[in-house]
Amino acid sequence: MSIAVCPGSFDPVTNGHLDVFRRAASLFDEVIVLVAVNGAKKSLFSAGQRVSLIEESLPEDLNIRVDSTDGLLVDYCTEVGATAIVKGLRGSADVVGETGMALLNRELTGIETIFVLGDTKLSHIASSLVKDVASHGGRIDEFVPPAVARALEKEYR
Ligand code: PNS
Repeated sequence: MSIAVCPGSFDPVTNGHLDVFRRAASLFDEVIVLVAVNGAKKSLFSAGQRVSLIEESLPEDLNIRVDSTDGLLVDYCTEVGATAIVKGLRGSADVVGETGMALLNRELTGIETIFVLGDTKLSHIASSLVKDVASHGGRIDEFVPPAVARALEKEYR
């Protein structure tokens, strides 16, 4: 059985991320969306909230489950027997940041990273921008699933 891990901060998950999860799910038997907890990076939502928001936003019949880790991504991949890491690219700017991580992860355990191009209609969506717009009272419901829009509204009310 082929297992892929889709890692990220997902603070919070956006429609762009969901598009990438669906694409990954069409390529692998099972996809694990992994919320990576970075103690040094301040997040708006806790790891538990981020996992719940992703779970609430995914159709139940998809071959996707959600988990979190505060350890190394490659250690998690070894533990679950993942054959690949899948990351989404919004455009060429993302390649720069992603290349270093993919090479380092491959050096650590040999795991390959597969990049999928997201829907071009969603390429401008980023969690940081969505939070900025929401914090100023702007409309974000086109960019995030309904559960996330509600959570952001509550957070910034
Ligand atoms: O959504 P992001 O912030 O681009 O995701 C970055 C993420 C979470 C994939 C990366 O920081 C990560 O893998 N963190 C887990 C800890 C780890 O393995 N660090 C080494 C990365 S080469």
